[in-house]
Amino acid sequence: MKFFADTSDIDAIKEINDLGMLDGVTTNPSLIAKNGGDFFEIITEICKICDGPVSGEVAATDYETMMKEGEKVAGLADNITVKVPLTEAGLKVCKNLAGNGTMVNVTLCFSPMQAVLAAKAGATFVSPFVGRLDDIGQNGMELISDIVRIYDNYGFDTEVLVASVRHTQHILESALIGADVVTCPPDVIKKLYKHPLTDKGLAAFVEDWKKTGQSIL
Ligand code: E4P
Repeated sequence: MKFFADTSDIDAIKEINDLGMLDGVTTNPSLIAKNGGDFFEIITEICKICDGPVSGEVAATDYETMMKEGEKVAGLADNITVKVPLTEAGLKVCKNLAGNGTMVNVTLCFSPMQAVLAAKAGATFVSPFVGRLDDIGQNGMELISDIVRIYDNYGFDTEVLVASVRHTQHILESALIGADVVTCPPDVIKKLYKHPLTDKGLAAFVEDWKKTGQSIL
């Protein structure tokens, strides 16, 4: 299972990388707006920190402009993944960029059949948004199960990249289902190693070690 950091915050990305948990990075226009900075500089910097795929999203919605933007973004680094929306124009851009050997992440996926179209268009990744489905009273993880099952049925190579992750349960369920990638806000990734019994056990070890009066160094 691969962990991507869902952020454009350079310091947060470095921190996750230092933990050995950074297999890739996803960004989107909202994250760039939230964290500030120049889009091209940020994406280029992230690509230097992270060896894995780094998603940079196009901003246009029409085919011609999106295609030009996609080609420009693709030229930023070898590990760039161009992120396009799951629209008719986005699928067309996906097909063309993928045909030229560019990695493409098709985003804003909310149904199993949308995911099938992304796979047929040659997407490297499809991004189903689980949290946003949960937000409207639907079951985001059911979408992940359906896509994984359909992709397995037909042997599609497109990787299922679970997006809009809100909590660690989303990550656990993604792992149980067998999703290829989860992209998570850094604070959710860091919650994975926290457990009250780990903290309690460590506190006891520290106290007991003091009683021995010994030093390892
Ligand atoms: C990732 O690629 C998505 O853009 C992101 O996970 C969306 O998450 P949100 O629903 O929390 O905005």
